[in-house]
Amino acid sequence: MSVAAVVLAAGKGTRMKSAIPKVLHPICGLPMIAHVVNNLQEAGVGRIIVVVGPEGQEIQDLLGSAVEYVVQGEQLGTGHAVLQAEAVLGSHDGPVLVIHGDTPLYRPDTLRELIKAHQSSRASGTVLSVLLNDPTGYGRIIRDAEGAFAKIVEEKDASPEEATVKEINSGTYVFQCEPLFAALHQISPENAQKEYYLTDVLGIIREQAGMVEVFTHDDPEEASGINNRVQLAAAEKALRTRIREKWMLAGVTMMDPDTTYVDAEAELEPDVVLMPFTFIEGRTRVAAGSVIGPFARVKDCVVRENVTISQAVVVGSTLEPGCTVGPYTYIRPGCHLSEKVKVGGFCEIKNTTVGPGSKVPHLTYLGDTSIGSGVNIGAGTITCNYDGKDKHRTVIEDGAFIGSNCNLVAPIEIGAGAYVAAGSTITADVPPGALGVARNRQRNIPDWVERRSGKRSYQEEG
Ligand code: UD1
Ligand code: CA
Repeated sequence: MSVAAVVLAAGKGTRMKSAIPKVLHPICGLPMIAHVVNNLQEAGVGRIIVVVGPEGQEIQDLLGSAVEYVVQGEQLGTGHAVLQAEAVLGSHDGPVLVIHGDTPLYRPDTLRELIKAHQSSRASGTVLSVLLNDPTGYGRIIRDAEGAFAKIVEEKDASPEEATVKEINSGTYVFQCEPLFAALHQISPENAQKEYYLTDVLGIIREQAGMVEVFTHDDPEEASGINNRVQLAAAEKALRTRIREKWMLAGVTMMDPDTTYVDAEAELEPDVVLMPFTFIEGRTRVAAGSVIGPFARVKDCVVRENVTISQAVVVGSTLEPGCTVGPYTYIRPGCHLSEKVKVGGFCEIKNTTVGPGSKVPHLTYLGDTSIGSGVNIGAGTITCNYDGKDKHRTVIEDGAFIGSNCNLVAPIEIGAGAYVAAGSTITADVPPGALGVARNRQRNIPDWVERRSGKRSYQEEG
């Protein structure tokens, strides 16, 4: 039997004090709601319906066609939100999991166990609860004299006695479709918040002799929702800890896990070494034997085996085996470094391909450049790729040698094996095998210092 899920994400998230919808705030590099959707998919949920508010377009743009959407025009409460999914779920005959879009920390295993518990008990509804020392703000699970589920009471509606209950409603449930929607049509907003509470559905099912089960989970962290930026930071920390542990157990060395940041979508092979103060962001993949850091940021990159990146920022690029990068170097999007390429200290390169074994050892800017194999780029080489209006390419063929402190004014081609003399500003192509020199010939003026000052030179002063 296939499981469907309804994700509630129509709330405004006012406590975030943000222009960005709450569920789009990133956690470990991925928007909150994408974590929720991934967790549901990993738990085996087949159909996902996201309830969005009238300003939910950004959510739809992010999640695309991986999920279905219903719009809740007015935020009249969690029960009203789920009711919006009735039309699209009408014919669904399996269980329906309901979850909030601001709870990204569930492990897929936990969701799977919740679904399993619901199915094996044959209940009409199952609510996931946790025990909290401080239950403030949450709905309380009220049990009867036998300890069976009686109802959920929202904090604002709770009696002083009910308020002391430490077992809380996580906001995650599994229902059978029919009793869920039957009960949703019976709820009313006669409560402290004048809202249609989804939580009332369970009490109604229970009163009408349906079965409600409580699935008590032992890790409150997983159930914690994010309402403000303090909780956002706490979730980020919790998830980062999990991600680090996952990769360390998979064979990655982290010299100082506390200062090592790995995003949710990054992938690391065994025997990757991450040194302190390193950020592996976005969809970066790092292959075995590579050493990243200290002080490195690598975002959306493919880093193959045995690459070394220290004190550098590398974004949107591919680094083939054996490359070395840094220190103090910025590799911008669109670069491809072939095997054993070196990009040394204080370089910036952008939209540039570098052929096997070529070296860009120091103090260089390369933009929109294609470099062949075995090329040496002297210190201080600058490609002048921008004429104030358009960008132009520089081509440097195999085996070429660029002397130090050259300007290569693009569009320009340096032929295979050609040399460019140090200090040249090259404005015309250099043919293969030629030497390009473009600088004034040096002239020494004898005794210039003495003549200028009218004094003897310092050597004679003694
Ligand atoms: C809800 C539960 C409470 C539980 C808590 C767990 C109800 C009535 N109460 O309270 O028992 O302990 O979650 O975190 O359900 N939403 C909509 N449309 C609406 C209202 C809310 O889509 O009209 C969405 C929000 O975007 C959010 C979720 O539903 O993702 C929960 O809403 P929220 O107002 O935060 O509920 P709580 O007061 O936290
Ligand atoms: Ca909430």
